[in-house]
Amino acid sequence: MLTIMDLYCHKSLAMVRSPQGENTAESRAATTLQGHGLVVADGALGRAMVRVLLAQAPALTITITGRTPDPRPDTRRLLQQDPDRLAYGVLDLCSDEQLAALGAHLDRLNRPLRLVLNASGRLHGPAPHQAPEKRLAALRRSALYQSFAVNAWGPALLAQAVAPALKRSGRAWFASLSARVGSIGDNRLGGWYSYRAAKAAQNQLLKTVALEWRRTMPGVCVACLHPGTTDSPLSKPFQGRVPPRKLFTPDFSAAALLGVLLALTPQDSGGFWAWDGQPVPW
Ligand SMILES: NC(=O)c1ccc[n+]([C@@H]2O[C@H](COP(=O)([O-])OP(=O)(O)OC[C@H]3O[C@@H](n4cnc5c(N)ncnc54)[C@H](OP(=O)(O)O)[C@@H]3O)[C@@H](O)[C@H]2O)c1
Repeated sequence: MLTIMDLYCHKSLAMVRSPQGENTAESRAATTLQGHGLVVADGALGRAMVRVLLAQAPALTITITGRTPDPRPDTRRLLQQDPDRLAYGVLDLCSDEQLAALGAHLDRLNRPLRLVLNASGRLHGPAPHQAPEKRLAALRRSALYQSFAVNAWGPALLAQAVAPALKRSGRAWFASLSARVGSIGDNRLGGWYSYRAAKAAQNQLLKTVALEWRRTMPGVCVACLHPGTTDSPLSKPFQGRVPPRKLFTPDFSAAALLGVLLALTPQDSGGFWAWDGQPVPW
């Protein structure tokens, strides 16, 4: 049986490249990143994060993960952009076996793990009955379970899996994409029960991780990030009422979020931040 360890296809991780990004604050911060970065999920924002890092963090090698043993076409094209710096691994955050294999893979890395970005998430399923709930009557145990498994338990168990590698690295960032609708203080519209609640649970779990790591890994900064409404398969069914100027491209959101994240220090660990650098109320 193939395991994730077989599927991680690390190339030679040599890389020397001049930065291509503009000389913005985020590109300056990214330029100083040396070591390895892990981007979990090859959705629209995950791939965009990798594109930004490739352009702006020349001393970073990167693994992007997806759920399919073979990278899907968009991811394959991305991998071809810089095969010396980019590798692909399989990771379903709902699989304990794959999370354990990820930890083992990171144990074998001979570079410090500087950055972990979780870009996975689940808002709706493939079938119409898995649309976000507009009313309490639409709430189903199965939808709650799936949403919590991906949006809440997944990021916390990912943190557990990467913790030993981060501890060895000293200075690092661990960030996970949350959503403003997960803010309890900001909830004025209601609806979307399971997604809202699962993102709120993610925020609580990662705040708790941040407090523990402040003692055990004082060099690591943990952040929950809101990307703004971004054009992706996740937001596609809900873009109808979004004015075009408020619908971001994945590359815009990814560059903005990385700029916000890399400006954070370990003293900022445990916060919830939006793409524009503003804190989001819990
Ligand atoms: N787009 C927005 O407007 C928006 C707004 C606020 C917050 N966010 C958050 O941003 C994040 C990224 O979303 P996106 O817009 O880039 O959507 P996307 O393109 O649909 O990406 C979501 C990714 O999550 C992956 N995923 C789902 N279940 C998973 C699991 N069990 N294990 C590992 N990966 C899993 C999906 O993999 P498959 O392709 O294999 O299903 C997909 O790659 C999500 O956390 C989302 O909640 C997005």
